[in-house]
Amino acid sequence: MSKNSSPETEPNWTKIGRVEDITRLGSRIIKREAGNIALFRTQDDQVYAIADKCPHKGGPLSQGIVHDCFVTCPLHNWVLNLKTGMAAAPDEGHVPTYPVRVDNGVIFLDLAVGKSSTAAIKQCA
Ligand code: FES
Repeated sequence: MSKNSSPETEPNWTKIGRVEDITRLGSRIIKREAGNIALFRTQDDQVYAIADKCPHKGGPLSQGIVHDCFVTCPLHNWVLNLKTGMAAAPDEGHVPTYPVRVDNGVIFLDLAVGKSSTAAIKQCA
């Protein structure tokens, strides 16, 4: 722990599984009492975690279609940025995102907090 850090700010990494356990453009659900988390693997093997609840009407984002670093909700086609959790315009809203670390193909997730981004990022890069 660094000099200026505290237990509240340190990541609480939880081992989830291996990257290859998720098909490319696929997802996994992590069930929790606090709300399920959807874990996505992109075509270029990036892994992202967001709340599995669309900000529109609660659709299961884990059932959506992954493209680039976005997922399209299966219910009414809102597009959510997997990096920021932000809905693409003209829709408005966001879902919490969760820090992901991949170490030698093993996925770790910080389940302690769901971070919301206010950045209106619409591109993957
Ligand atoms: S519930 Fe996701 S777009 Fe409506």
